[in-house]
Amino acid sequence: MSQTMEIRPARVEDSEAILALERESFTDPWSREGLISSLASPLYYCRVATEQGRISAYLIAQLVAGEGELLRIAVGPGERARGTGRALVEQMLRENPGIRPWRLDVRESNHGARKLYESLGFKPMIRRRNYYEKPGEDGIMMILE
Ligand SMILES: CC(C)(COP(=O)(O)OP(=O)(O)OC[C@H]1O[C@@H](n2cnc3c(N)ncnc32)[C@H](O)[C@@H]1OP(=O)(O)O)[C@@H](O)C(=O)NCCC(=O)NCCS
Repeated sequence: MSQTMEIRPARVEDSEAILALERESFTDPWSREGLISSLASPLYYCRVATEQGRISAYLIAQLVAGEGELLRIAVGPGERARGTGRALVEQMLRENPGIRPWRLDVRESNHGARKLYESLGFKPMIRRRNYYEKPGEDGIMMILE
């Protein structure tokens, strides 16, 4: 992990930088409206990672009734495999010690992300047939009890 990387709460003003990463990272990016409403909602846990003030990654989770769902995480394409993704998920777990279970959905073919989640204790539990579009693909629901 870079010495200069910092993680802080995401704000509505960060939405354009997050949207740019979202569009670079996903074939089915969130809309601006959806993103802004998540950033503004107390039910969402939203963090950005910065490198000298520039946003390099983000994480969005939903916290409802003591349970958590990791909805989105992306690191800028040029900045992956340096520990930023792991740092964001570890901080989410640390800052929300009472939240259990955590769950998430991941594309079956996304081996890098699956490996990261497994290394943090998430277990693949349910296959969701054709859960994803663009391209169509099964999802794997993973749970951290
Ligand atoms: C998935 C993602 C968030 C991981 O972030 P990252 O900063 O690249 O990952 P890290 O450097 O923290 O790696 C953490 C672990 O993930 C695994 N991992 C990450 N990318 C990997 C890859 N391409 N291949 C294999 N394993 C990988 C490794 O086990 C790694 O473990 P290590 O710390 O022992 O090396 C990032 O690659 C990304 O933005 N991908 C595109 C968007 C995406 O797929 N998001 C997840 C949707 S569910």
